[in-house]
Amino acid sequence: MLAINQIYCLDYREFLSNIDEASIDLAIIDPPYNLKVAEWDIFNSFDDFLDFTYDWIDRLLPKLKETGSLYIFNTPFNSAYILQYLVKKGLFFRNWITWDKRDGFAASKKKYNNAQETILFFTKSNIYTFHADDIRIPYDSQERIKHAMQKGILKNGKRWFPNPNGKLCTDVWHISSERHKQKQNGKTIKMPHATPKPLEMIQRIIKASSNEGDLILDCFSGLGTTAIASYLLKRNFICGDKNLEYVEYAKESLQKTIKLCQTNLEIIS
Ligand SMILES: C[S@@+](CC[C@H](N)C(=O)[O-])C[C@H]1O[C@@H](n2cnc3c(N)ncnc32)[C@H](O)[C@@H]1O
Repeated sequence: MLAINQIYCLDYREFLSNIDEASIDLAIIDPPYNLKVAEWDIFNSFDDFLDFTYDWIDRLLPKLKETGSLYIFNTPFNSAYILQYLVKKGLFFRNWITWDKRDGFAASKKKYNNAQETILFFTKSNIYTFHADDIRIPYDSQERIKHAMQKGILKNGKRWFPNPNGKLCTDVWHISSERHKQKQNGKTIKMPHATPKPLEMIQRIIKASSNEGDLILDCFSGLGTTAIASYLLKRNFICGDKNLEYVEYAKESLQKTIKLCQTNLEIIS
């Protein structure tokens, strides 16, 4: 087994072959989508892309614990294939999460513009971790909620009081993409990676579907968002990506995060 809390520069085949079976609590997988956004996202045909996708799924599934959870990012179209494949493999479907990226892939006038991605949430069995209360989100109408906090709202004959931590998280996530966040005067800025995921989104997944000390795997880790989020939330991680440039960047970001947390701790104590 590879050592944990490390980011490896490895192709997913080699990376996964060195992970123990049934050792992973949560897998967060943000693979190539076949959109040609970078050299690593180009496939000869859709069939080639599906072969690649089914191959990493087949290699990954045995690594998940019986109580493990799996999140997979992709386009809605590709996710339809992935969903069917996972159901056939006996996994348990939990959610089709729509990520409203507050951004678009393209400016098409021949169809509606794509502004969403899909995150599939599956579990390996019916026994799994899910902390709905740890990922509550603020209510939309703060004024109405302020009032309801004091007096409650009459619902089916019962008085309902809002939860001070907000409402339960739905399967539609409104989170700006990194590309959108970085825009200056509406212009896209070149980033060190074509598609890094927002830290707060990965943190939401980790908070919901793992416990402190759990082991989280990401075999397409890019700039190391999963590693950083895991560290911040006191989870263990094991990450890999085949591109050295990204792995070096990810390791540096992780070191900076660790240093910052340690400095903050010293200031507090
Ligand atoms: C969608 S990006 C992941 C971005 C990441 N979630 C982040 O937040 O930065 C997909 C990653 O898969 C990596 N990749 C592509 N083919 C791979 C392979 N065969 N083995 C390992 N990594 C691969 C790419 O280098 C790329 O960084």
